[in-house]
Order: sequence, then structure tokens, then C-alpha cells
Amino acid sequence: MSKLNLTLKVWRQKNANDRGHVDTYDAKDIPLEASFLEMLDIVNERIINDGGNPINFDHDCREGICGMCSLTINGIPHSKEQGITTCQLHMRKFKDGETIWIEPFRAKAFPVVKDLITDRSAFDRIMAAGGYIDVRTGAAPDANSMPIEKKLADEAFDAAACIGCGACVAACKNASAMLFVSAKAAHLNKLPQGQAEKTKRTLAMVKQMDDEGFGNCTNQYECEAVCPKEISVDNIAKLNRDYFLATAKDTVA
Ligand code: FES
Repeated sequence: MSKLNLTLKVWRQKNANDRGHVDTYDAKDIPLEASFLEMLDIVNERIINDGGNPINFDHDCREGICGMCSLTINGIPHSKEQGITTCQLHMRKFKDGETIWIEPFRAKAFPVVKDLITDRSAFDRIMAAGGYIDVRTGAAPDANSMPIEKKLADEAFDAAACIGCGACVAACKNASAMLFVSAKAAHLNKLPQGQAEKTKRTLAMVKQMDDEGFGNCTNQYECEAVCPKEISVDNIAKLNRDYFLATAKDTVA
């Protein structure tokens, strides 16, 4: 069989103030080679042809890079397939006749904008709180002028792979953003270039995370399980250590 006939149960919500509800759609003759977002495109085309309102969902790169395609599929952010974003999920992973539940990411800090689209600008504000440096960097230095231990370079690079999709928050029962914040802090805090403002950065990012209303981490590790970039919870342990030291230094100062 090269085509699937599916039933979609989709969360529809007009705006942030609407209570929202689930609508049912028949998704007939869906090609196996279509991506999940292409399947939604096909369904939307049919809804529009029938004079209805298309299902609103976020997307940009459709290549697993931007982190925009944030959906919960059958209760799991980005689906039960590991190490991929929704846009990298293909319909061959589903069975003919299956019912698929599609909902937005659920978290107080990610309010629903419309249907499946959530406002994840809280992540941008956390990045802005800690992401800047205020030293004059001048021209780009020669790549080899500051030797960096291979292990540290690899760990920093792995942490920097976080695309900020928010799946970690959506999967956590506490809606904690610790995996995201720890990855963003770690990719700078691990490198020699990131040491000068490590204390300031760590305190500012954690404060902003708390101000945005994210919950506390209770080491459930659901975040690591759903992360499309497989960011390690080791980063959370590092952030906890950095935060403890930063708080002590700040108190002494
Ligand atoms: S649309 Fe960019 S990661 Fe999915």
C-alpha cells in the first residue's frame, strides 16, 4: 500500500482566550513518502477547497534546523520517533487506518497563539538575558590562537546543537526549561572564551527562566528522551554547579 487513510484529531483554538476544542478530519490517500507537515498541507488544501479554516501550524526550514515545527503527536512532542523534529517525521511511520492526535506544546510559558502555534518567545528572552558579551572582540582571532581541549570543544558543540524547539518543556511534567537553558549556557560556559562573563550569564539566564514561569527540574529526564537533538541532561548538572558557584561568588562580591 502506497497511500494511507487516517483520522486526525486536531486541537483547534481561535486565539489565546478561546477555550479550544478537538476537531476530527479524514486524511485520505496520504502518500507514504510525505512528511508529517506535508500531510497537514494536503489536509489543509482540502479544508480550504471545502471553504473551511485551515489548521494553523508553525514551520520554517522543514529540515530539522529551526525548531519551529513544535507539535505534540499522540501525546509526545515531535512524536515517539527519537532524534527527529516533526518536519523530519514521515508518514511511512504510521499505519493505515490509524487515528493521530495532534496538539500544541502545553506549558504556561508557551501560550497558544492559534491552533497548534504557541508563543515560545520566552526562550528568546532567556537567550537575550545571557547571550550577549560586552567586551570589545575586535576582528575574528586566528582559529588556533586559543587552544581548546578536544573533549570540551565536543561537549560545547553538542550543547550548541539545541534548536530551541521547546519539546523539553512540553514533555516535562513541571514544564521545566532546564534542558534548554543548560544547553544554551553550557555551549558558552564550557569554552575559555565564555569564562569572562560566566557568573553574570548564569545568574541572568536562570533568573529570566524563573521569571518566565517555567517549572523546576525534578530529574525526570523526559526532556532528554524527546529532544530532537539528543541534548544530554549532563548539561543540567553542569548548570546546577555553575549556578551554585555563581550564587556564592555573587554573595561574596
Ligand atoms: S520546520 Fe525547522 S525544524 Fe522543523
